[in-house]
Amino acid sequence: MNRIGNWGTEIARHHLEKPLPRRWAHVRGVAKRARLARPLLQPEISDLLVAAGMLHDVGYAPDLANTGFHPLDGARYLRRLDAPERLCALVAHHSCAWREAELRGLSAELAEWVDEETPLRDALWWADMTTSPDGEVVSFDERVKEIQERYGPDDLVAFFIRQAEPELRAAVERTEERLRAAGIEFE
Ligand SMILES: [Fe+2]
Repeated sequence: MNRIGNWGTEIARHHLEKPLPRRWAHVRGVAKRARLARPLLQPEISDLLVAAGMLHDVGYAPDLANTGFHPLDGARYLRRLDAPERLCALVAHHSCAWREAELRGLSAELAEWVDEETPLRDALWWADMTTSPDGEVVSFDERVKEIQERYGPDDLVAFFIRQAEPELRAAVERTEERLRAAGIEFE
């Protein structure tokens, strides 16, 4: 694997493998899915996609959780490590994080990074939203349903996912169109 990809894997492993083994399985699944989408992007950019797949949930690690909002805690941690700014921004904004930031009153904090709204970011959202908590491939609809069930209807996360669903679905659909156009099997 490439340098940033290897680095991302080791950072994610260090923080997730022991304390959060299920989360570790999930991020490995997301990175595997991200690898499928690599041919859609320039090589250096596709390295960032795989690294972001590994690192997007690192902010859940008990030793890194600070605000309790994992995209922000993860991005801040990566910035402290001098990770590329673009990687930090991908982590900060993964899977429609701005909507959850709003619900948590953390929009100003998240606004330190910009959501790039590109095929790279769409592919990260797609990989996350089509990978189960155990790292298995699932459909977008199954993934959304599982999140709603896991958190319960009154949880902030369930409210967030209801609000974010159209934006998440659009990113998933754009990526799947690109994969189909490139002749890449993903189901
Ligand atoms: Fe995730």
